[in-house]
Order: sequence, then structure tokens, then C-alpha cells
Amino acid sequence: MKILKSKIKNKTAQTAVIGLGYVGLPLSVEIANSGYNVTGIDIDQEKVERLNKGESYVLDVGDEKLDKILDNGKFKATTDYTQIADCDAISICVPTPLRKTKDPDTTFIISVVDKLIEYMTVDTLIILESTTYPGTTEELIQNRLEEELGFKAGEDFYLCFSPERVDPGNKVYGTHNTPKVIGGTTPEGLELAQDFYGSFLEEIVPVSCTNVAETVKLLENTFRSVNIALVNEMAMMCERMGIDVWEVIDAAATKPFGFMPFYPGPGIGGHCIPLDPTYLSWKAKTYDFYNKFIDLASDINGNMPRFTVNKVADILNEVKKPINGSKILLLGIAYKADIDDLRESPGLELYRLLESKGAEVDYYDPYVDSFDNAGEIVKGIDLDEDIIKDYDLSVLATNHSNFEYKWLAENADLILDTRNAFTGIEKEHIYKLGAPLNN
Ligand SMILES: NC(=O)c1ccc[n+]([C@@H]2O[C@H](COP(=O)([O-])OP(=O)(O)OC[C@H]3O[C@@H](n4cnc5c(N)ncnc54)[C@H](O)[C@@H]3O)[C@@H](O)[C@H]2O)c1
Repeated sequence: MKILKSKIKNKTAQTAVIGLGYVGLPLSVEIANSGYNVTGIDIDQEKVERLNKGESYVLDVGDEKLDKILDNGKFKATTDYTQIADCDAISICVPTPLRKTKDPDTTFIISVVDKLIEYMTVDTLIILESTTYPGTTEELIQNRLEEELGFKAGEDFYLCFSPERVDPGNKVYGTHNTPKVIGGTTPEGLELAQDFYGSFLEEIVPVSCTNVAETVKLLENTFRSVNIALVNEMAMMCERMGIDVWEVIDAAATKPFGFMPFYPGPGIGGHCIPLDPTYLSWKAKTYDFYNKFIDLASDINGNMPRFTVNKVADILNEVKKPINGSKILLLGIAYKADIDDLRESPGLELYRLLESKGAEVDYYDPYVDSFDNAGEIVKGIDLDEDIIKDYDLSVLATNHSNFEYKWLAENADLILDTRNAFTGIEKEHIYKLGAPLNN
């Protein structure tokens, strides 16, 4: 432990980040920028080649940031797992999706552990960053390393969980200045991880064990999911009662204490909010505990695309048109503003639902060139005055800040604004989700 501690202190520790996606790549940049050598390991050969050429595919990591750490020799990407044998500190950032049955799919973590068993040497610090249910770090990593390698945690290797809290597209908080929660399976592990992460991040928040650290992340994302569900339910209720939910939320948000605004929308997306709470409720069920809030929130949020499509039908009905045969344009298809991430995006669900009802659907999204719709590649369209006038209805699904809202309001026929993005542009043909039709 002493040797590893001193390698961390003088930044001669060889480090690895496994999984170079939205989480792993920004983390690699932070570690490399602080002076460590970073080996980025990914199974995707194409990603590895792009990174080594200085081409970033993560919006928050510009090519110039990547070039800098490549040029000074602090970073290299590889698919070669044998490099683990030379590494002192390894962060794991692989995906943790759900299976079709909505059970956690931990196969990505398990396959990394298989490789650790093959190549890892003694005196290595391992930090799992992938979001997962409480108990994973001990059950899937520590137990296997101890059983299959005969290593002992706290003596031969050191193991921690530290949830990644990155908010893609956030211009204020990134990997560097978002406080980092860390829990170790042993006090030695926590101490080393605090030394390591504390040497390149602004603030470390140590907690007593990995189970707590794992649950912290799931509480954070469950909190968001439940609060978004609450305002989504409010939006549906307000529509029925002829009230504008956006005005209600804005006024409520003036309360300086005890209220935090959340906003409704056409559904939730991304790799985190729709999935993570299910990791918690799945584990809780093994203890005969049933999380009612999680299931209710997932039910309400999951129904928002259908609620949005019903609103589309109501708006078209005002001009005596059916969805079937109408030309509908989705403005934005990424799951949230100013990013290119399509994972679990409600925009995709809107596309499929409207198409299944016979609409002719296109999308415009400056961040997304194309997407795979069950094997068929759908390309986004370009917009001009003639093209936009061709659509019976445009649905603002993602409130990208580079959309020209005034121009859209002036040129589109009917508009359904699901994000309150046309605030201040009062036009009769703009309808809002969560507000009455005659708003
Ligand atoms: N995206 C976010 O905003 C976010 C935020 C916080 C936490 N997380 C969590 O972080 C984890 C990673 O998410 P992400 O968004 O970075 O995913 P991602 O899909 O963007 O990246 C994961 C990377 O891991 C690689 N990979 C898969 N299996 C591998 C293996 N066996 N060995 C090496 N590389 C492998 C993939 O090729 C991919 O490049 C997930 O658990 C997620 O829940 C994500």
C-alpha cells in the first residue's frame, strides 16, 4: 500500500480507464491533465482508433482537449487488456443497461472482472464508476477477485465505488468540479481512492462503504425521476383543468425555500434517469421491499410520449385533420437540450408512435444526423422556409438552445411546444404541453 500511495503522491502511478464513453472519456482527460499516464481501454476498435487520431465523439470533450493529452503522451487508447498488468489504478466506466425484462444487465461489469482476473497484479486500486445496485462492488468484483485470484481486499488489492455524476452538456459542472462521492470495501481502499481522485478533482466526499456510495447515486436519480413524474402528472392535471402548468411552476419557483422547480416534458431519456431507479427497486425486491415511488414515477414518465401524441391528435383535430396522413416534424430528437445522446430518448418514441398512427414523420436536430429505427436508418432533414411550411404540425421535442425559436414560430404551421421553449412568443398556432388548447 505504501508504494502505491507514493506512486499516487508523485503521479507516477500508471492509470487505466475502462470504457471510454460519456463518462470514461471526460474522466480520462481529467486524470491525464493532472499528470498521470492514462491507458484508455475500450472494446470498440473504431472508438479507439478515432481517439488515437484526436477525434472525440463526446461533445463535452473537444478535440483540442484530446489533442493536448495525446501530444504530451499522457493518454493512449487501446483494446488490449493485457495493459492492465502494468496499471496501478483502474477506473471502470462500462454501461449498465437493463435487460428487456427490466432486470439489471451487469454483463459489461462481469466481462471486465473476467479480464481483471486474467491480467491484474497485486497492489492495484480499482474504482467502479458504473451506476449499479447496492452490493455490486462487493458481490461482483471483490468476491470474485478474492475467490479466483486468492487476493485479499485491503491487502493485495483495493476496491471502491465512486458514482459518476456527469451531466452531459452542463456548462458549469463537469467531472472536475462536481463533488465526488467515494466508498471503499476497506478503509485502505477508501484512503487510496481519496488520494488518487483528490489529486485531480476539486472535492471528495468519503462515505462509509461501497453500499452507501452505490445507493447515493440511485437516490439522486430516483429523486429526479420522482420529481419529474410529479410535474408530469401536474401537467396532465393542469391541461384537464384549463391551467397552464408552466406558469404555475414559474410562480412556485419564486419561493426562496422549500421548493425546487422540475419541468414536465414528452418523457424522460438518457442512460440514467429511466434506468437507474429500476436497479434500486430490483435489488430492494430481493429484500422483499417494494419501492412504490419508483414504479409509479416510471409508469407516469413512461406514458408521457403517449400523452404527447394524444395532444398532437387534439391539435390536429382543431383544424379537422387526423394524425393518419398528416406530415409531422419533430424539432429535436436527442433526449435533452444541447447534446447528441439518443439513448432512451422520448423523441424516438414520439417518432415511432406517430409513424404507427399513419403520420409522415421527419425530424430536424442539428446534433443528430441519423438514427436507427429498427434496422432502417432515418436521416434528419434540413430546414428552410419552404420545407417547414410543408408540415401540418411541428412538435418541439428537445429545446436545443441553438434553435431559432422566433423563426420557427413565424414559419411553422401548427406547433406543439413540449418544453415551454417558445416563452415570450405568443402566437395562436403555438400550443403547449401542460396547458389548455385555447391558451
Ligand atoms: N452518460 C451519463 O450521463 C452518465 C452519468 C452518470 C453515470 N453514468 C453511468 O456510467 C456508466 C457508463 O455510461 P456511459 O454513458 O459512459 O456509457 P457509454 O455507452 O457512453 O460508454 C461505455 C463505453 O464502454 C465500452 N465498453 C463496453 N464494454 C466494455 C468492456 N468489456 N471493456 C471495455 N470497454 C467496454 C463501450 O464500447 C463504450 O465506449 C453507466 O453505468 C452509466 O449508468 C452515465
